[in-house]
Amino acid sequence: MDKVRLGIIGIGNMGTNHCKSLLEGKVPQLELAAIADRQENRRNWAKEHLPESVVIFEEGKDLLESAACDAVLIAVPHYQHPELSILALNQGLHVLCEKPAGVYTKQVREMNQAAEKSDRVFAMMFNQRTNCIYRKMHELVTSGELGAIKRVNWIVTDWYRTQSYYDSGSWRATWDGEGGGVLLNQCPHNMDLIQWICGLPSKVQAFCHNGKWHDIEVEDDVTAYLEYPNGATGVFVTATADAPGTNRFEITLEMGKLVCENDTLTLHKLAVNERTFCKTAKGGFDTPECTVTEVETDGENEQHVGVMKAFAGKILHGTPLIAEGVEGINGLTLSNAMHLSSWLNQAVELPFDEELFLEELNKRRTSSRKKEGSGVVFDTEGSY
Ligand SMILES: NC(=O)c1ccc[n+]([C@@H]2O[C@H](COP(=O)([O-])OP(=O)(O)OC[C@H]3O[C@@H](n4cnc5c(N)ncnc54)[C@H](O)[C@@H]3O)[C@@H](O)[C@H]2O)c1
Repeated sequence: MDKVRLGIIGIGNMGTNHCKSLLEGKVPQLELAAIADRQENRRNWAKEHLPESVVIFEEGKDLLESAACDAVLIAVPHYQHPELSILALNQGLHVLCEKPAGVYTKQVREMNQAAEKSDRVFAMMFNQRTNCIYRKMHELVTSGELGAIKRVNWIVTDWYRTQSYYDSGSWRATWDGEGGGVLLNQCPHNMDLIQWICGLPSKVQAFCHNGKWHDIEVEDDVTAYLEYPNGATGVFVTATADAPGTNRFEITLEMGKLVCENDTLTLHKLAVNERTFCKTAKGGFDTPECTVTEVETDGENEQHVGVMKAFAGKILHGTPLIAEGVEGINGLTLSNAMHLSSWLNQAVELPFDEELFLEELNKRRTSSRKKEGSGVVFDTEGSY
């Protein structure tokens, strides 16, 4: 096999973008073989824009049960990610699942078990892991050369969204259709990166404000306090209504500080470990010597195309993925903990009670708002 036949389930904002990348030949090892979408207008778009050879289905399940493809990319609303991934793996298909891995960790755990039993490739669309700056931060922090982490601060409020965005899909920004707001739609990238680079905290206290800036029932403004197993602390702030927003990810370690802002990574490198300096310096106001440099990276940032290339590479040649599918549970654990903490109005220790989370989520699903979607499909370019 020199090409993988790929099916895409869900030809909405994201699925359409993936189709376009494949049509433009950006991932030569993947051949678009089939698509599925429940909406007639999306299937009509597919008929008009995709080669005749692409088989069109209405239901994702029918695509999975056909013999039309070897692998599938799941780009439907989040609740269905685990269910369709499990079905696909059981059908013997390789799976690339859009973020987030699911809505609650209990369902994602079942998906991971199915993946572990299967010999198929299971990958997660964490396209931000291809960004050279985040890769460099991961390398510098996990190598240990900067010592232990003392503080993590990420303010990411540049996820600006209008009311029209929220009105575009009936599932969007509802407990029953989406299962959350900014934490579950925009922030899965940040949730994954923060855990990939800094590890998972052991305790979380979050304040999620529902519909603070938009007419929605889920959160669009969040401030969370994090505590790590080594005693490091952190703050994570996000919102979808700050204009202009901020995206500043700062990690303070024993040997200095990394600051990622405005597509630049700056290293404030200490000459000595701050812990040693603090205990040995003679002057009360002495500070450790520090050199500030812009960190060089390889400049590569392939985003979704990079994830798809790696997915095909793993299937065809056994080369590494950008993100293993089973790692999707980590970022979701973090956002579930934030939601649970806010719902209970108390700090939550990790691992948290998954049954309690589900009970609390289901309470909100029962009274969830039913709404019509405007059906508008937006260009996702630059929105991730
Ligand atoms: N990686 C990224 O950067 C990124 C960006 C945007 C969206 N996403 C993810 O992609 C997923 C979809 O988001 P979107 O904005 O494209 O949503 P969307 O509403 O624009 O599109 C979803 C499409 O899926 C179809 N669908 C739903 N269930 C189906 C089923 N069982 N079978 C066939 N078709 C089905 C719907 O008809 C709809 O057209 C979400 O999970 C979202 O988090 C990822």
